[in-house]
Amino acid sequence: MENNTFVIVGTQWGDEGKGKIIDVLSPKADYVVRFQGGNNAGHTVVVNDEKFILHLLPSGIINSAGKCIIGAGVVVDIEVLLTEIDELEKRGKNLDNLFIDERAHIIMPYHIEIDKAKEEAMGENKIGTTQRGIGPCYIDKIARNGIRIGDLLDPERFRDKLTWNVKEKNDMLTRYGKGTFDLEELYEKFMKLAEKIKFRIIDAVVEINEGIEDRKVVLFEGAQALMLDIDYGTYPYVTSSSPTSGGVTVGTGVAPTKISRVLGVMKAYTTRVGEGPFPTELENEDGETLRKVGHEFGATTGRPRRCGWLDLVIGKYAVLIDGLTDIVLTKLDVLTGFEKIKVAVGYEIDGKVYHSYPGNLRKSKDLKIIYDELDGWKEDITQIKNYEDLPENCKKYIEYIEKKLKCKISMISVGPERSQNIYRY
Ligand code: GTP
Repeated sequence: MENNTFVIVGTQWGDEGKGKIIDVLSPKADYVVRFQGGNNAGHTVVVNDEKFILHLLPSGIINSAGKCIIGAGVVVDIEVLLTEIDELEKRGKNLDNLFIDERAHIIMPYHIEIDKAKEEAMGENKIGTTQRGIGPCYIDKIARNGIRIGDLLDPERFRDKLTWNVKEKNDMLTRYGKGTFDLEELYEKFMKLAEKIKFRIIDAVVEINEGIEDRKVVLFEGAQALMLDIDYGTYPYVTSSSPTSGGVTVGTGVAPTKISRVLGVMKAYTTRVGEGPFPTELENEDGETLRKVGHEFGATTGRPRRCGWLDLVIGKYAVLIDGLTDIVLTKLDVLTGFEKIKVAVGYEIDGKVYHSYPGNLRKSKDLKIIYDELDGWKEDITQIKNYEDLPENCKKYIEYIEKKLKCKISMISVGPERSQNIYRY
């Protein structure tokens, strides 16, 4: 097989630093393609001290001369898209290379209101969604009454779909005790928005597959991560799409046989935003140190992230489900200074030991985590470029992970800047 199609996915709960890795790899790419999620992502790309935070646009947009594509599996808030385009254009980027598959679904204003109303109504049981309408948009897609980007090109069809949806959503919002939407206002608003993005709407299935055929380099850019996957994550505290490598095929129309490599981005420790189980969470000083040194605060909300040790039960699950060919280990510099570093290798629940992530793990007092403990290092590693120059204990940590996961760590990130990487293999 050609070595020209690369999938980049998160292997934990997101925020592994995928944005930076995609930015580093994208100059070599002819296509950078997003395949799932919406503007619930929060990729941070730092270029010469200039910070870009992207929620919907592929991170490759900063650094790629190729085409950037929002694939069929993505849900698109058009106003957010236009704002992000506008902001980047103001900062001197040319975005003529950005396209959207006609099959991608539109996040409508009623989706956002329903998202908020539902979270509010769920009270203590809330999922902790970003309240951007992602879930309700995917619900409509699966219920087969969603509105797709391509529908904007056919005003009559758009109006038909909108009419039915506005009625249904207004009923729903009224039940939640919320305000309703006016059909004509929405119609006019979206016809105006359509004018601004029309020229970006394409059949991306044809575009990408022809590119692959022509041996072009394609990067598929995941948002969120394995443990937030709708099927394999910590359900129901998950996102509404498939951020695993399997999501690429359904979210872009590129067959599994066309994928050459799957790179799993793994932070050297673990973080999680929002509710839900997190077995290695540290609610102590070590957790506080990870949060402070790693600047673990949400790119979108500023919320402090929950922090804990690396969990190789989840690591193994990622190798298995994503079929990882490579691991990209990030934020290794954050572990500098710890006397001892722990790594989870198993869970014990009611006397039974698990080495693969169980399907229905609950937050429970009876859950015992089995840890291995490794020696830490004190030396600053942020300027190191060659693997050999890393402190011995740091190399031992890397090689320990490789051995446990039976997967090569081909790139190591030691700082937020583009240049702070160590390449192996
Ligand atoms: P999601 O798609 O929302 O999950 O985001 P993401 O995986 O792209 O992660 P995000 O960019 O939000 O978070 C990573 C943060 O860590 C950013 O602020 C990066 O600049 C920073 N970062 C990335 N790699 C490194 C690294 O190796 N070391 C340090 N210290 N910071 C890093």
